[in-house]
Amino acid sequence: MLRENIPDLADLELVAAVADKAVRVKQLLQDVERDYAPVVFANSLGAEDMVLTDMIWGDGLDIGIFSLDTGRLPAETYDLIARAEARYQRRIAIYAPRHDAVQEFIGTHGINGFYDSVEARKACCHARKIEPLQRALAGKQAWITGLRAAQSPTRDKLKTVAFDHGNKLVKISPLADWSEREVWVYLRANNVPYNALHDRGYPSIGCAPCTRAIQPGEDVRAGRWWWESADTKECGLHLVDGKLQRVAKAEVGADRTAAA
Ligand code: ADX
Ligand code: SF4
Repeated sequence: MLRENIPDLADLELVAAVADKAVRVKQLLQDVERDYAPVVFANSLGAEDMVLTDMIWGDGLDIGIFSLDTGRLPAETYDLIARAEARYQRRIAIYAPRHDAVQEFIGTHGINGFYDSVEARKACCHARKIEPLQRALAGKQAWITGLRAAQSPTRDKLKTVAFDHGNKLVKISPLADWSEREVWVYLRANNVPYNALHDRGYPSIGCAPCTRAIQPGEDVRAGRWWWESADTKECGLHLVDGKLQRVAKAEVGADRTAAA
């Protein structure tokens, strides 16, 4: 988060409004734990994901937490994994890429070949994120993400609960209607650990070579794959029916957006 956007905890109305929203998200997480077991939370250690980590581990919910360790994460993210585990006395399940897939990518495209074309970048994301994600989701009824609708044009029709046709399970995004400011009010009001890079102009953090700081006024995801156009900037974890789309095609059950 950029320094000028740091929320003021003296704004008691805002703090109370976020506390109300948090109660509703915690209720949703309890419903999800009961109705969709086994369910897992995909944790990138970003600001939104630390809100959900605090709620899931803080309330002792039976929801497994996993991270995809691409092998190219910033040192600050590994540091946060260790700090979060120490704070909550729990372990994050780490999914590493298959060594043969990574070696094949490097052999074909070079160690930093993801800069050379969108295709090469997607091949790297597939080996380091998508295939491990498929392993992490195998046998699960639902997965939880920290996506927010306001993060990018590719996410603006995000629903709190939807069917993920690509991965064939329910996908739940409890913070779909949260603003970046609300995320930071929650983190600060609850003293939740967060990635040190957020204080250095990185609102959205992925792999180190594919993430940079943004300037004031820039979109929160402007620092991700900054050399690509805004409409291609998804690694494939959050495609709909295997394609980049602005609208999720299906929802499951009642639209619970209002409850989030
Ligand atoms: S990405 O698709 O561009 O990388 P982003 O960083 O915005 O996604 O994160 C959106 C959500 O995807 C996170 O809240 C998290 O649920 C999931 N996610 C992204 N990266 C990871 C990761 N390395 N490990 C686990 N989950 C991840
Ligand atoms: Fe590879 Fe960059 Fe995708 Fe990470 S974000 S998996 S380094 S292309």
